[in-house]
Amino acid sequence: MGQHIPENFIDELIDRLDIVDVVSARLPLQRAGHEYRACCPFHDEKTPSFTVSPQKQFYHCFGCGKHGSAIGFVMDFDGLEFIDAVTDLARTAGLELPQGVAAEHAQADRSKPLLAALQQAAEFYAGQLSGHRPATDYLQQRGLSEDSIKRFQIGYAPDQWRSLHEHLSQRGFADAVLVDAGLLVSKGDKLYDKFRHRIMFPIHDRRGRIIAFGGRALDDKGPKYMNSPETAVYHKGRELFGLYQARQRQRPERLLLVEGYLDVIMLDQHGLQAPVATSGTATTDAQVRSLFQTSDQVVCCFDGDRAGRDAAWKALQHMLPHMQDGRQVSFLFLPEGEDPDSMVRKSAQQFKDLLQAAVPLSELLFRELEKDLQLDSAESRAALAKKARPLLQQLPEGVYREMLSQQLDDKTSHRIKLGSSPANRTQAASRRAGEPAAAAVVRTPLRHLAAMLVQQPWLAAGLSETDQQIVAAQKNADIVMQLIDFCAHRPQISMVKLMEHWRGHAAEAFLHELAGWQVLADTAPTDDRQRDENHRHEYEQKLRTTVADLLMRMQSDQLSARIRMLTTAQQQGVLSAHQKQELRRLLMDKQQLQSQQRSEQH
Ligand code: UTP
Ligand code: MN
Repeated sequence: MGQHIPENFIDELIDRLDIVDVVSARLPLQRAGHEYRACCPFHDEKTPSFTVSPQKQFYHCFGCGKHGSAIGFVMDFDGLEFIDAVTDLARTAGLELPQGVAAEHAQADRSKPLLAALQQAAEFYAGQLSGHRPATDYLQQRGLSEDSIKRFQIGYAPDQWRSLHEHLSQRGFADAVLVDAGLLVSKGDKLYDKFRHRIMFPIHDRRGRIIAFGGRALDDKGPKYMNSPETAVYHKGRELFGLYQARQRQRPERLLLVEGYLDVIMLDQHGLQAPVATSGTATTDAQVRSLFQTSDQVVCCFDGDRAGRDAAWKALQHMLPHMQDGRQVSFLFLPEGEDPDSMVRKSAQQFKDLLQAAVPLSELLFRELEKDLQLDSAESRAALAKKARPLLQQLPEGVYREMLSQQLDDKTSHRIKLGSSPANRTQAASRRAGEPAAAAVVRTPLRHLAAMLVQQPWLAAGLSETDQQIVAAQKNADIVMQLIDFCAHRPQISMVKLMEHWRGHAAEAFLHELAGWQVLADTAPTDDRQRDENHRHEYEQKLRTTVADLLMRMQSDQLSARIRMLTTAQQQGVLSAHQKQELRRLLMDKQQLQSQQRSEQH
């Protein structure tokens, strides 16, 4: 079910790979018994709770709940799409890509020359800087250190129509590539350099590849900033300037979201960690996700003027669905006429003080909602409730949400019921994107059984026709029935392979949730085959018993429900002779089931 990739190819890839190699190529792993440990790259922690199991070919973080296969790890860690992660891994494993995949990957291959051109362009611009006094003077006047210039790979685009074009043509880049990369502009049959006489700020993706540029004019001619157009490799709304530099350090404790390139560079230069910026556009949902993948704490710095306040309110709204417990967002409004760059140049300490005084998201939220409302009448309190409800509803379920709805209750002197949160419905899905668990999914016997099947697919083969009927009679059993069918046909499949087969399926997020559950009180046996043969046998036995137990609970629940229905009918005197008989039989069945359950508990 993976995107156009033959299932057996993914299976083979997983067989060839060792997740320990894949992860340790990206993170230092430490051996701990039969597993490996590290500090989790997906959330902030001081003691390692990220484990990699060579036996299961699976990683799992006990801190944030994130888990997955080698493929999933590469997708999240390198920020790759499925197809690209598979291609990369196939290459390391020495596997040839099947036809269909190769075709699809050609798309990714097409971006290669673009990336190469952008990289070469950045080197060209950087090289031009030192020879141009006006450019170096400008940077000096703005207070940029040599270190910052290197760290952000700042350059200069000469004041000529074709300098970059000539430079890259000599290096064999086709015009079409340079146009596609956004470096050249074509007008009629003329081609010319897009960036001229500008200070150049390369924009990196999360892996550090240069994908675009922002260029600042040295004088008042033309627009102050020019940015690369959207290209095959650059999607403005997804990227954050400075994020790559921020992620080069150990997981930053907090991110500072600012508006300008120079704000990022100057905050960084003054040791204020870790600044990132959008490229002059409103914050998007993708950017918010990116922020929280990097840190749990975000301070948004906006101008104190009307535009800044509007931008802050927009950013706030994008953040609500991502406010899982443990995340902190606050807003800093700068004095009129100042931006982080000008502030920090005057006094880094003063900027730090302002950061301390940033307004928490909840405070800004209510402040904004209560604007123009006196809250001195039932009408105005009702108006507040009406405005607040759709916003609070977007918060994921959790303590934070409860606290805010409590605040709203206090303000309106009324108990307001929030509906279920949309964020919650996609909670498992967003968890895949590296977000810590919010409220847990309730464990029902059906879900518990499904978790066992996901983790130990061989169990499905042991389910009898009757067992399956019991499952099928449960509410919402469709996915679990599909799962049983899937596993029963593949008794040898591992959890990791199973998850890959279900990638892209509507139930993928649900299965991921289940994959992380502990299904038995005991932990699974280790890989030491000889010594643990007995333990393994015992463990498998426990799994089977648990399945039987779950089936019994389902059956017993079904019986009770039917009995309740018939008893009610009996009390109302509308029970047919036939139904009376059924009730008697059900009561007997139930008794038998209970004694069976008792005997198994002892
Ligand atoms: P600002 O106008 O606040 O610029 O735009 P700035 O960062 O303070 O720049 P300096 O200090 O005058 O050099 C903030 C951001 O908006 C985008 C840029 O990304 C800029 O960093 N912008 C601004 C544009 O894309 N185009 C423009 O013409 C102006
Ligand atoms: Mn500025």
